Amino acid sequence: MEFHHVSVMLEETVEGLVTDPAGTYVDCTLGGAGHSSRIAESLTPEGRIIGIDQDAAAIAAATEKLREARCRVDIVHDNFRNLENILTAQGVSKADGFVFDLGVSSHQLDTAERGFSYMQDAPLDMRMDTECAFSAYDVVNAYEERELARIFHEYGEERWSKRIAAFIVKARQEKPVESTGELVDIICRAVPKAVRRSAGGHPAKRVFQAIRIEVNDELGILRHAFQVAVAHLKAGGRIAILTFHSLEDRIAKQVLKEMSRGCICPPGLPVCVCHHRPEIRLIGKPMTAAHEELERNSRSKSAKLRIGEKL
Ligand SMILES: C[S@@+](CC[C@H](N)C(=O)[O-])C[C@H]1O[C@@H](n2cnc3c(N)ncnc32)[C@H](O)[C@@H]1O
Repeated sequence: MEFHHVSVMLEETVEGLVTDPAGTYVDCTLGGAGHSSRIAESLTPEGRIIGIDQDAAAIAAATEKLREARCRVDIVHDNFRNLENILTAQGVSKADGFVFDLGVSSHQLDTAERGFSYMQDAPLDMRMDTECAFSAYDVVNAYEERELARIFHEYGEERWSKRIAAFIVKARQEKPVESTGELVDIICRAVPKAVRRSAGGHPAKRVFQAIRIEVNDELGILRHAFQVAVAHLKAGGRIAILTFHSLEDRIAKQVLKEMSRGCICPPGLPVCVCHHRPEIRLIGKPMTAAHEELERNSRSKSAKLRIGEKL
């Protein structure tokens, strides 16, 4: 199956990221190398790209796509939660830019057997890294009712989280829930009919997002990864973060804000005692996709691009 993914806010991201054409850029979410190949076009042969992805299919597609790149390219099959070790192994102490284009690729969503989509029947899986043992099957069949309700509420902002969790637990008392189709049926039975028909998308959308976030620990690793990236930026280097839902965007916003703050003394102190210094400055306001891109690519609708520059 061909790797299909339309990169979001491609020009805005690369323009905001690349400050030195001979610099080193780390793409922490390589995917189909859409952003990386555009970065490569703006680099000279002295430039370097390190591309990281935890998904073997993305690594294969990106390796092919970057084969003709005119700069040096190093591709790493790993999770960016290990960014510190990856940089050490690549011999990089300071880079000119880091990009995070968060979430799943269209290829992952469209490959039915990966089990990411509520639109296609497949085994419950949702692992970005297919070498991991832990999958959506384990979450749905082994988590306690309270835990299921918590992740649906926290990671899916699902209003019917308790009711859906109760319906899942009841269903699995008869037999394990094995497929995305079975899970969608359970969710549809749990959500009242009137609500199911109202706006807000498919009734399974939020629960699938929540399970995907849990399986891949998508939120838990962000803060540390952003901090490691900033710690390894050269002065004047940039970090670009593309988010696609409010939960990951909240973390990006908070971490960048904290790192851009000077004094963090409690209000009311006559003089600063913390001596905290800002590490970055924020470049402009968070950007959203232009009208033309919104019409062309529905994935761009929820996208926010935040850029910070190392001081
Ligand atoms: C939205 S896609 C990136 C698309 C890419 N920027 C492009 O333009 O082709 C996100 C990619 O990041 C990968 N990914 C998500 N979280 C990751 C993590 N913690 N470590 C490594 N890769 C991750 C996914 O496997 C997926 O391939």
